Amino acid sequence: MSSSLHHSLIIFLFAVGISSAAAQFKPKAFLFSVRKDTRALQYYTSLEVSTRSNYVDVVVDLGGQHTWFDCDTFKLPTYKPISCGSTKCNNVKSGGCVGCNLPTSRPGCTNNTCAVFSYNPYTNGLYAQGLGEDNLYMSDTNGLSVGLTYELPKPFPFSCADSDLLRGLSNATKGMLGLANTITSLHSQLSTKFRKPHKFALCLPSTTEYPLGHMFIGGGPYFFPPYNKNIAKQLLTTKLVINPVSTAPVSSEGDHSDEYFIDVTSISVDNRPVTVNASLLSIDKNGEGGTKLSTVTPFTKLETSMYKVLVSDFKKAAALRKMKRVASVAPFSACFRAISVAKSQTGPVVPYIDIGLAGKQHWRFYGANSMVSVKKDVLCLAFVDGGSKPRTSLVIGGHQMENYLIEFNLVSSKLGISTSLLFRNTTCTQSRLL
Ligand SMILES: *[C@@H]1O[C@H](CO)[C@@H](O)[C@H](O)[C@H]1NC(C)=O
Ligand SMILES: *[C@@H]1O[C@H](CO)[C@@H](O)[C@H](O)[C@H]1NC(C)=O
Ligand SMILES: *[C@@H]1O[C@H](CO)[C@@H](O)[C@H](O)[C@H]1NC(C)=O
Ligand SMILES: *[C@@H]1O[C@H](CO)[C@@H](O)[C@H](O)[C@H]1NC(C)=O
Repeated sequence: MSSSLHHSLIIFLFAVGISSAAAQFKPKAFLFSVRKDTRALQYYTSLEVSTRSNYVDVVVDLGGQHTWFDCDTFKLPTYKPISCGSTKCNNVKSGGCVGCNLPTSRPGCTNNTCAVFSYNPYTNGLYAQGLGEDNLYMSDTNGLSVGLTYELPKPFPFSCADSDLLRGLSNATKGMLGLANTITSLHSQLSTKFRKPHKFALCLPSTTEYPLGHMFIGGGPYFFPPYNKNIAKQLLTTKLVINPVSTAPVSSEGDHSDEYFIDVTSISVDNRPVTVNASLLSIDKNGEGGTKLSTVTPFTKLETSMYKVLVSDFKKAAALRKMKRVASVAPFSACFRAISVAKSQTGPVVPYIDIGLAGKQHWRFYGANSMVSVKKDVLCLAFVDGGSKPRTSLVIGGHQMENYLIEFNLVSSKLGISTSLLFRNTTCTQSRLL
């Protein structure tokens, strides 16, 4: 009798196991769609926060330390503030405590709350705001298509920003997604709580139309049909460099940067090196110089002296290719008649720009990434002057990252870069529904 009861109990548990997707299936990696606002020149994604189908659109910021949005626009029934002095608060770089003078609390207005800084890089807007947390849902992927929806086992941390912090953001969005190497970032939270390798990858689209580009969290494989090979196996890799001095808007002495820096050794145009002051390419003891990646910088910015030689060398190489110069259109300084430039799979056929990386490797930009169409029949070199004493000499911007799969591997501290997907006759925009 007792043994048969035991037996049926096991069968019962087994049946429960099958009906519960989370118990039965383990997510492989996670997938988020990424869309471009072609007017604001920003990339954004959707977070499903608090309840199912409550989508919050946020601008993707590789340098952002935390995620923030205007909570007043959304229903967040399960929102909880993180209290000041709690372990969770001590784990983040907190700006102390914040309170709220209103008589009733709501998300973003609670007393005795852990403060973090919400930063808008477009306006330099900065507010100390209360950190809270809520449920988060996301889809998994096998690298090709969208799989099941999972709930993050522990709530996701973010702060609620005042609506005036939204100025300068794409009108389609209500906040920003911080992807810096911090403990509150989406990739850190997902990798830790689902025990996935701490890796994420961006594949930024160049257009706003469907299908959309994607961000993967948790590692490859990465497939971009019709190309049928796994892009994760074809990445050139280079070390992610730690900048010893924080580049965040607020930091404490001794904090290193949580942005993504790489060691660029040279720049060349049509295989000829551009003469640049090498010390600008390395990071000095004050954290100045070097190269970082930024999704909130629309076009790659170079320190003035580097910019000038690049433009001048590009013009010479363009003349050899019989490209016809036209008056430049600000902020660009080398523009050409589009009709004088042939077209190919990888965009306008123009001099190659290579960014040299350790180990005699290079990141090659073809016309689709090195040129921008500014008006009918005018193509300009899509790089801009970053000023004479910028904090970071070379900031690789969004336009240059489009249609490359770029993997941030925080397990091995390496950046992986694919060849242009255009070269593979495919793009970052993929319909991943089954
Ligand atoms: C926060 O504390 C202040 C001062 O004690 C109080 O006036 C206010 O009503 C409280 N607000 C909330 C949302 O609890
Ligand atoms: C948002 O919309 C307003 C009004 O239509 C427009 O003036 C503004 O330029 C837009 N902002 C962005 C960043 O696209
Ligand atoms: C190279 O750049 C460094 C750092 O900005 C500067 O101190 C130095 O004078 C520059 N050297 C030359 C030859 O321009
Ligand atoms: C891409 O397409 C072009 C022209 O349609 C073709 O010549 C080339 O072989 C293709 N490349 C790949 C990798 O499929």
